[in-house]
Amino acid sequence: MKRNYWEKMAPHYQEEIFDVLQNDKKKWIARSIRTYANPQHQVIDIGCAVGKWLPILSPLFKKVIALDISSNNLKIAQSLFPNLKNISYRQGDMSNNRLRLQPAEMGVCINALLTPHAKDRAIFFKNLQRCIKAGGTLILTVPSVESYLLTRIIQQQYKIDAALFSERLTKEKAFQNWKNLNQGVLNIDNVPHKHFLQEELSLSLLQHQFEPIQFKRIEYDWDTEFVKPPRWLKRPRPWDWLVVAKKITK
Ligand SMILES: C[S@@+](CC[C@H](N)C(=O)[O-])C[C@H]1O[C@@H](n2cnc3c(N)ncnc32)[C@H](O)[C@@H]1O
Repeated sequence: MKRNYWEKMAPHYQEEIFDVLQNDKKKWIARSIRTYANPQHQVIDIGCAVGKWLPILSPLFKKVIALDISSNNLKIAQSLFPNLKNISYRQGDMSNNRLRLQPAEMGVCINALLTPHAKDRAIFFKNLQRCIKAGGTLILTVPSVESYLLTRIIQQQYKIDAALFSERLTKEKAFQNWKNLNQGVLNIDNVPHKHFLQEELSLSLLQHQFEPIQFKRIEYDWDTEFVKPPRWLKRPRPWDWLVVAKKITK
């Protein structure tokens, strides 16, 4: 998932890309942002895409840096929110070691740390560390390995959407699909996305001077995973991980 992927996706973004803001029914992410927001502070929306979170962030902070790898996404965001005057749009790649950002008191990164490449992720984490001030807050949402596997297990056990899952994979295709399972890299719509275990995420954050202070499941309805979820299937629900982490002061 390099820049080209996101640039090409931009015109179709609204139809193709899962909307975390709309599907977070309990509004845990917005609530966390409000808890730690300060009108004297600056926030970076890391991987802001077409700017869905900007109307929430703009009134809560002095300044918002809207950062994305895709300049096409940023153009759309700018055109959608001309009335938000405290936003600076910035094209930049969090997986580039040369990225330089002025550190902010808060970083919000909602499903943008998705790259399947371990090296790119390592730099992404380093840039998260660099772009948030000591004592600042990171609000991070990522796909969950646990939820992904739960969904596959339930699908097979109860034969949900059986016709859609009936394709017999060749050995080569099966290998392609699952070869990076042991690294939490799993396909969403045939595109490899990094998914995280809770403990793994905790460890990666600690390695980058962030102390996780709260983990939450952002729970979704089953119709976000299945075309026809059985009516009895309620809990557990599929989820992404939300973690609130504090940048450690030295
Ligand atoms: C799934 S979208 C999420 C967008 C937004 N945070 C939201 O919740 O609506 C992921 C976004 O992250 C951006 N992105 C992916 N990798 C990135 C990187 N290395 N640096 C900056 N932005 C990146 C993509 O361009 C895309 O807009």
